[in-house]
Amino acid sequence: MPYAIRLHQNGGPEVLSWEAVDLPAPAPGEATVRHHAVGLNFIDVYHRTGLYPVTLPSGIGMEGAGVVEAVGEGVSELKVGDRVAYAGGPLGAYAEVRNIPAHRLLKLPDAISFETGAAMMLQGLTAAYLLRKTYRVQAGDAVLIQAAAGGVGLIACQWARALGATVIGTVGSPAKAELAKAHGCHHVINYSTENFAQRVREITNGEGVAVVYDGVGKDTFTGSLDSLRPMGMMVSFGNASGPVPPLDLIVLSQKGSLFVTRPTLMNYTAKREDLVALGSELFDVVVSGQVRIEVNQTYALKDAAQAHRDLEARKTTGSTILLP
Ligand SMILES: NC(=O)c1ccc[n+]([C@@H]2O[C@H](COP(=O)([O-])OP(=O)(O)OC[C@H]3O[C@@H](n4cnc5c(N)ncnc54)[C@H](OP(=O)(O)O)[C@@H]3O)[C@@H](O)[C@H]2O)c1
Repeated sequence: MPYAIRLHQNGGPEVLSWEAVDLPAPAPGEATVRHHAVGLNFIDVYHRTGLYPVTLPSGIGMEGAGVVEAVGEGVSELKVGDRVAYAGGPLGAYAEVRNIPAHRLLKLPDAISFETGAAMMLQGLTAAYLLRKTYRVQAGDAVLIQAAAGGVGLIACQWARALGATVIGTVGSPAKAELAKAHGCHHVINYSTENFAQRVREITNGEGVAVVYDGVGKDTFTGSLDSLRPMGMMVSFGNASGPVPPLDLIVLSQKGSLFVTRPTLMNYTAKREDLVALGSELFDVVVSGQVRIEVNQTYALKDAAQAHRDLEARKTTGSTILLP
């Protein structure tokens, strides 16, 4: 029997349990994918802790890359042997092999390895919709990207720079500042030692940025609003430091007629055509070398608990993969 990480209760990393599991034949519309690499994402932590509720028992993990081993009835776009990658539900990527709806899979270009594929799909598709759809970055825009040395951060910073933006990134340590600078940031602010909203005003000559991409959440939300130009766009897309408390809308008027959105990748890729279009933009910037995918941590899949500990302790940079 194949092995997978299962979740029987919410809690700390210790609840991630490595177990033998059944693998039925793929149902109609499904494909069986043998993973060569699995991606680690902060959303996995929210599923484990219960911040994002999951019906238990459950698999965990939303991203992987591998080879199609079988297809169910009605699957016409894929065949056995295809190299594929995916990001999104249903949960269960922390597995040696799994069944998944075929419409969630994208064919992986030959130029992209399984390791890079597993590292880039969820964080890269997120950078794609944030920069190209939620607020479409224009050349000349000043943009602020929180947690710039993280998984989404390193990809988004490189991509925003390639689009012609002035990129300001925040990080939690001097080593991460170096990394962010080497991956697209024109300016880096260490928000553990500096008032980042004040520094953003200085960098932008008092004007503020057109958009903030904030995946940190609770600790940075107010400072992010204070970094925006009038009519600027606050994109709150994550809660690494905890969820953002309720917001009194009058604050948006007082701080400059601001816009706020709280997007998720699942809505932006729910339609197959949107997933394919975003995937193609992502593959283009990676294959052309405009965006480098940095796989800075690798763990055995069965050691996923340690990977979670390191991610939550802010010890990781760039992307992390788990190897079956
Ligand atoms: N809405 C969506 O569609 C979507 C999709 C993908 C990801 N996300 C969100 O985007 C964010 C980044 O995801 P990721 O997978 O790329 O993770 P990541 O950025 O690699 O890791 C999170 C980073 O957040 C920073 N951070 C600040 N305060 C923290 C705290 N109290 N605890 C832990 N980390 C803290 C840390 O960087 P420093 O040490 O530099 O501060 C840490 O490395 C997450 O919030 C995730 O949920 C949202």
